Amino acid sequence: MTTPTHGARDAADFVRDVYRHAPGSPIRELKRYTELSGMISLAGGYPAPELMDVAGVQDVLGSLSGASLARALAYDATDGHMPLREALAALSTDRGMPSEAADVLVLTGSQQGIDLMARTVLAPGDVVLVEAPTYPAALSAFRLAGATVVEVAGDDDGVLPEVLAEALATHAPKMLYLVPNFGNPSARVLAAERRRDVLALAVRHGCLVLEDDPYGDLWFDAPPPLSLYALRGEVAGAADVCVYLGSLSKTLAPGLRLGWMLGPAAIRRACVLAKQVDDLHASTLTQALAARYLQEGRFAAHLPNLRAAYGARGRALSDALGQALEGRLTFAAPRGGMFLWARLDASDADTSAWLQAAIRHQVLFVPGAAFFADGKPSPWLRLSFASWAEDGLREGAQRLGASLDDAGA
Ligand SMILES: Cc1ncc(COP(=O)(O)O)c(C=O)c1O
Repeated sequence: MTTPTHGARDAADFVRDVYRHAPGSPIRELKRYTELSGMISLAGGYPAPELMDVAGVQDVLGSLSGASLARALAYDATDGHMPLREALAALSTDRGMPSEAADVLVLTGSQQGIDLMARTVLAPGDVVLVEAPTYPAALSAFRLAGATVVEVAGDDDGVLPEVLAEALATHAPKMLYLVPNFGNPSARVLAAERRRDVLALAVRHGCLVLEDDPYGDLWFDAPPPLSLYALRGEVAGAADVCVYLGSLSKTLAPGLRLGWMLGPAAIRRACVLAKQVDDLHASTLTQALAARYLQEGRFAAHLPNLRAAYGARGRALSDALGQALEGRLTFAAPRGGMFLWARLDASDADTSAWLQAAIRHQVLFVPGAAFFADGKPSPWLRLSFASWAEDGLREGAQRLGASLDDAGA
């Protein structure tokens, strides 16, 4: 009998460096604390199950039978299930982005759109600009594609055009990634006049703009300005550089894993090729369900309930924090979305250190370092008000106050 002659290799040696050394999602790593009994987690940006239209979804599921169910259980086109493409084109048209079914690429969540763009547009060594702070899973997607991430500073109205202009001139980036509506984590809205400036700058420097918009429908008092994609006709050349990502996760249900992309045909085509080798297509069953849900007007009818409920939660958390942490925390009351982004006022504050005391007091938040490209200690923290009703949020704010005393800040 002969012994196999392969060299002794550690399984980890097979993994590419970029994956071997990548940190996991800091937010997903907090999940083990979320599940502890008695914990009030303000960490995850998870839509509240009790606010989902479970009865409506069940009705629609029940109505899928016979031939329509058989079709929903079959393979479908990579671009998406045609009835859903039609319904998403109508929804996009309503939001100021006139579209036809053929313009829509259905995604397995908008996260897939970020990854498809990273894979089809970014080559190792390319630079991608992001607003600071930004969505950590986008940072990961860009880094895993081998790109270098450069941050662009902003203020309460989003990225600063003069800083963006300088970054574009210095780094010649391939792509700019923005969450212009109720950003994760910043909750900021990119001001209307800046949207045109961003487009003009991107065109001038030949830079793609990837606009990620999972929260735009969750406004409380007033809708956000028109999307960059909707404005592309106003700036010569902008139609070639604008890509828009929408999502049904925050408004219908994240478990359906559905999002969509609008953008130039050449880019969508590249993303379709990448998606063919990724998952073939989004689940036909959830696409068929969402198509009917949208077509029957249920989505439009449900949105006002969500806006009212999340609006009440956002106000409850900001009022309670104002009382429990007066003078120690600075933040703007959220105008939409799911997050409150706050800064600890103490000098040299590092919210990662505070988190340990918070866990002892059974409350969770995400330390701000997770949302910056350099991952350095940060005085910022992200709180989500989505998953708790008002009483839980008030209790969470009390615990945060007590834990900060305990942390000695
Ligand atoms: C800014 C941003 N983009 C994309 C996503 C991913 O959403 P989806 O469930 O549509 O993949 C999220 C989810 O938290 C997000 O916050």
